[in-house]
Amino acid sequence: MSDTCAEEKKGGSTTGVGTPAPSDRNSLTIGPDGPIVLHDVHFLEQMAHFNREKTIERLPHAKGSGAFGVFETTEDVSRYTKAALFQKGAVTDMLARFSTVAGEQGSPDTWRDVRGFSLKFYTDEGNYDLVGNNTPIFFVRDPMKFPHFIRSQRRLPGSGLRDNNMQWDFWTHNPESAHQVSYLMGRRGLPRSWRHMNGYGSHTYMWVNEAGERFWVKYHFKTRQGMAFFTNEEAARMAGSDSDFHRRDLYEAIEAGDHPSWDLFVQVMPYEEAKTYRINPFDLTKTWPHADYPLIPVGRMTLNRNPANFHAEIEQAAFSPGNTVPGIGLSPDKMLLGRAFAYNDAQRNRIGANFHQLPVNRPKVPVNSYMFDGPMAYEHSGTAPTYAPNSYDRPWADETGPAAEGWEADGAMVRSAYTLRAEDDDFSQPGRLVREVFDEADREALVETVAGSLLGGVREPVLSRAFDYWKSVDADVGARIEEKVRAGAAPQPAEGMGEA
Ligand code: HEM
Repeated sequence: MSDTCAEEKKGGSTTGVGTPAPSDRNSLTIGPDGPIVLHDVHFLEQMAHFNREKTIERLPHAKGSGAFGVFETTEDVSRYTKAALFQKGAVTDMLARFSTVAGEQGSPDTWRDVRGFSLKFYTDEGNYDLVGNNTPIFFVRDPMKFPHFIRSQRRLPGSGLRDNNMQWDFWTHNPESAHQVSYLMGRRGLPRSWRHMNGYGSHTYMWVNEAGERFWVKYHFKTRQGMAFFTNEEAARMAGSDSDFHRRDLYEAIEAGDHPSWDLFVQVMPYEEAKTYRINPFDLTKTWPHADYPLIPVGRMTLNRNPANFHAEIEQAAFSPGNTVPGIGLSPDKMLLGRAFAYNDAQRNRIGANFHQLPVNRPKVPVNSYMFDGPMAYEHSGTAPTYAPNSYDRPWADETGPAAEGWEADGAMVRSAYTLRAEDDDFSQPGRLVREVFDEADREALVETVAGSLLGGVREPVLSRAFDYWKSVDADVGARIEEKVRAGAAPQPAEGMGEA
């Protein structure tokens, strides 16, 4: 078809400044076969904007998608929190984003990995974000280790390839990872879809009621679609045939009117009990036994609306565990305190200093913040004072005394692991998971998966450490893994990292 006789789409398009665009098909040239001229501003703008069309991808959790919905509080939990969104009958608009951790933007949804479970609630008291995973625990418990952990799960510095040896090198050097690695190598490492997985806040958070009483809570979102998983073979096949399978599944379900939902429960620990409980309740590698702290129902989240535009509403969405509302606080969990800084800083880098002004991130309540200007500033406060205190009626905050969502801390400044409590070893909980929660079929699948991973290029001394790691989780499972690997082992190529 000739490029010169095209029918113009009715009305034509415009330039970025709203003037009629001359052509979206033909650049301006000297004669049909001549060079392009430098004053074809429309062409130059197209080229230049195209070069800037992507925001930096998230690091980690680059690959994901999400949807909008509502959270309805169906139960009375006012004796634990005064947060407006958790008062019985409250219905709050929200956004959810699901993701894998280690893979980049184009990576397959069905690679074995932990899944992100990020929620943003547009509440009457400002935005509340709960940025969790599909597992109730995590790999490490000091935020200093986090960048090292993420790098070990990504790509080799030399070849740029993913590398099992590097993953196991990190995990076996950090035995507190055993609980999360047992989840990851079990069925939860391959959820069938995002609709078929649970979500967890993972950390311990604080709830505060109207009387100022404080409680420690853990969030559990139970899928109402039922948990479902892929086998290794199904996931591998799907990774090749539809790398966007989870993104597609969620989008198509919602388009078809099949709105996925999750029931929220919390475990609640009275404030004082945390001081003497036999497990450190702020250690992110541990769960709280349900026998001690049963699940208390709170409400239901339902996703019912797809994004109108993926880039604007999912890529540019910014979640942070530091975004809390009155009645909800953080906790002494060091990981959570580290995260309270990391997210907004990542978003200033990947989206821009004024990311919170974008429609998807903007709260529905009025904002009166003392953060001004910067690139892409859209909201402004006209001629109002930019400093506090001021004599010109611009309100400022002036809370003094104990913080409502605070706790007590004292002691010398140290660099140290948490103080150990009676049952704070790294292997009891993963051992119980493997022996008591997993059935024999689950254990067999775990042995297969771990052995397969170790056979995929894991070398000494990492290999022997991995056998010890699994024998510490469970003697029998460890022995079965070692036997399988020794039987299948072939000499491994030495590609990897060199000495510095
Ligand atoms: C010290 C520990 C951690 C640090 C420093 C950290 C840092 C980050 C950063 C910088 C991002 C990218 C954010 C963005 O660009 O918008 C991210 C994403 C994410 N992280 Fe973490 N993270 C930590 C631990 C965790 C833990 C323990 C969980 C779950 C319990 C978690 C869940 C997520 C999720 C779900 C996302 C994706 C957020 C989204 O959907 O936009 N992270 N993390």
